[in-house]
Amino acid sequence: MSTSNGLVPRTPLIDPFQRSIDYLRVSVTDRCNLRCVYCMPEQGIPSVPHQEILTLEEIARVIRVAAGMGLRRVRLTGGEPLVRKGVVNLVRWISQTPGIEDISLTTNSILLPSYAHELAAAGLKRVNVSLDTLRPQRFRQITRHGDLSAVMAGIAAARDAGLSPTKLNVVVMREVNDDEIAEIARTTLEEDWQVRFIELMPFMDEQETCIRDTSRALGFIPSQEVKRQIEEALGSLEVAESTAGGGPAKYYRLPGARGLIGFISPLSEGQFCATCNRMRLTADGKIRPCLLTDQEVNLKETLRRGGSDDDLRQRVLEALHSKPDAHHLGDGNRPRRRKMAQIGG
Ligand code: GTP
Ligand code: 5AD
Ligand code: SF4
Repeated sequence: MSTSNGLVPRTPLIDPFQRSIDYLRVSVTDRCNLRCVYCMPEQGIPSVPHQEILTLEEIARVIRVAAGMGLRRVRLTGGEPLVRKGVVNLVRWISQTPGIEDISLTTNSILLPSYAHELAAAGLKRVNVSLDTLRPQRFRQITRHGDLSAVMAGIAAARDAGLSPTKLNVVVMREVNDDEIAEIARTTLEEDWQVRFIELMPFMDEQETCIRDTSRALGFIPSQEVKRQIEEALGSLEVAESTAGGGPAKYYRLPGARGLIGFISPLSEGQFCATCNRMRLTADGKIRPCLLTDQEVNLKETLRRGGSDDDLRQRVLEALHSKPDAHHLGDGNRPRRRKMAQIGG
C-alpha cells in the first residue's frame, strides 16, 4: 500500500523491550574465501546445499516486506558476501526498495577491487572491512592464508568508488594482535578510517581457535584495556560520533586525527544490548533475533510453501516479539548451533 505521495506508511518495529528494530543484517552466503581463526574452523564448515540457501529474489522480497514494516537499514554479510554471485543485483534491488535509507556491506575486502565501483553504482553506501593486523605474516596466520596487500587494495578501491565512511573491524586477541593495538589506532591520524576494536565473542571451542603451530587458544581482552593501551601510547581520546550506522560501537578521536577509533564491547559493557536495533537473516532463511542467542524463526518455510506477504509479516513480528532483552552470556548462554561465519556478525 502506498500513500498519495508515494511513501509507504510504516510504524516502527518495537520489540518487547521498547527497542526500535530498523536494521536487518542479511547473510547472503555461509561460504568464505578466508578462514579467520575466530570465525571458522580450519577445515571450514560443511556448506549449506545451494537449494537450501535463499535466492536473491527471496531475499529481496523479505526486505521489501520488512521495509513496509519499518525497516530502514540493510547490511549484507556472509561468510564473505562478495563470493555470492549476483550480489550487485541484490544491492540494486535493495536500493530501489522504498523505505531503505542505508545499504552497507561487511567484507574481508579481497574481492573489492573487482566489485567496488559496480557496488557503488548499484547503490551501496559503505563497507566495513575486517582487518585484525597490519603485518602480512600475521595476517596469513589469522586468516589461515589471506594476503594483506589484497585487503589494502580493496580498501583503496572502496575509497576510489566513493564508498564512505570506511570502517575497519579489529577483533582483539591476547597474544595474537594485542601488541599492535596502538599501531593500528595510530593509522587514524592520517587516514579517515573508523577503526573499531571488537571484543572477541565466544563462537569457537578452544581447540578450534588455535593459531597454527601453537597450542594457544585465543584470549579475550576487554575494551577498557584496549582503550588504556591506546591512551598510554597516543594520548587521551576525545568522545566522538560515528557518521553512519547506528551500530553498537562507541567512538573516540585522537586529537587532530582524521579518523575515529571505536570500541565494540558486547562482553564488558553492561548496557550493550539496551540499544540493540537489529535482527539477522541467515543465508538459509532463518530470522535470528539476537546474534548470540540460538533461537530463530523459519522464514524460508513460509517463503517456500507459497506464503503471502501477510504471512511473512507475521513471521517477522514473531521474531521481533521473541527478541531477548540481552545475550545473557554472563548467565552461561552461548551460541552453539552456528559459527559466526553462518550468521555474519
Ligand atoms: P554499522 O554501525 O552499520 O557500521 O555496523 P556494525 O559496526 O554493527 O557492523 P559490522 O558488520 O562491521 O560489525 C562489527 C562487529 O560488531 C562484528 O564483530 C559484529 O559481530 C559486531 N556486532 C554488530 N552488531 C552486533 C550486535 O547487535 N550484537 C553483538 N553482540 N555484536 C554485534
Ligand atoms: N568475535 C568478535 N567479532 C567477530 N567477527 C567475526 N567473528 C568474531 C568473533 N568471534 C567480526 C569480524 C567481522 C565481523 C562481521 O565480525 O571482525 O568483520
Ligand atoms: Fe542485540 Fe543480541 Fe547483540 Fe545484544 S547480543 S546487541 S541483543 S544482537
